[in-house]
Amino acid sequence: MSTIQANAASDYATVVRERHSVRHYDPSAKISESEIVEILKEASLAPSSSNTQTWRFLVVNDDATKRKLHPIANNQQQVLDASATIIVLGDLEGYKEIGRINEDAVRKGYMPEDFAKQFTENSLKLYSGLTPEKMKSIVHKDGGLVSMLVMLSAKARGYDTVPMGGYNEQKLIEAFRIPENLVPIMLISIGKAAVPGRLTARLPIEDIVSWNELK
Ligand SMILES: Cc1cc2nc3c(=O)[nH]c(=O)nc-3n(C[C@H](O)[C@H](O)[C@H](O)COP(=O)(O)O)c2cc1C
Repeated sequence: MSTIQANAASDYATVVRERHSVRHYDPSAKISESEIVEILKEASLAPSSSNTQTWRFLVVNDDATKRKLHPIANNQQQVLDASATIIVLGDLEGYKEIGRINEDAVRKGYMPEDFAKQFTENSLKLYSGLTPEKMKSIVHKDGGLVSMLVMLSAKARGYDTVPMGGYNEQKLIEAFRIPENLVPIMLISIGKAAVPGRLTARLPIEDIVSWNELK
């Protein structure tokens, strides 16, 4: 069983070591929308390309919508039993928010005004000239980073998660009327474990690390 209790201040190493993908949830355990917002707010502290924060979240937490998502997510039981499933999306046009983000940074005293103006101008020029493939690659990186923080932030609060790539992307887009600018990154179910996640093995570190040139 997890040694992490809800609302306990948990140290980073414990959170990382005790996060496991959980596929069996207590259907009676509900996470409030305000707590999910807190988790997403904390996760949004993730780094992103030029701080464009291209992630968007569609949270599925009502029973009818869970039933709609279930067959699309290969009938994975966690979609029905977890408190919520977060559809993580990447916005291919998200870079257009860069001006608003930088103006906010100026107001907060994080960035000088002339630097912000130049940064915004350069970024808009750069991102608007990228191919859709390149933009997709960027939002997938941003989306992966934020997704990891969603899972760690949830664990630090005593909740469990499982990331899912097992879903029908076309059906997801149709069923949730996801517009063309939003790319599905992954689903993350979040709730209280009914059965702890299985332990999983990792490759030996020396097999995955090279120094200065690849082995
Ligand atoms: C991109 C991605 C897609 C995944 N898709 C699924 C999935 O569809 N269903 C599932 O049960 N687990 C899924 N997983 C969870 C992995 O199986 C799990 O992370 C891996 O076995 C390591 O276990 P751990 O998360 O407990 O450390 C996915 C993980 C990732 C990162």
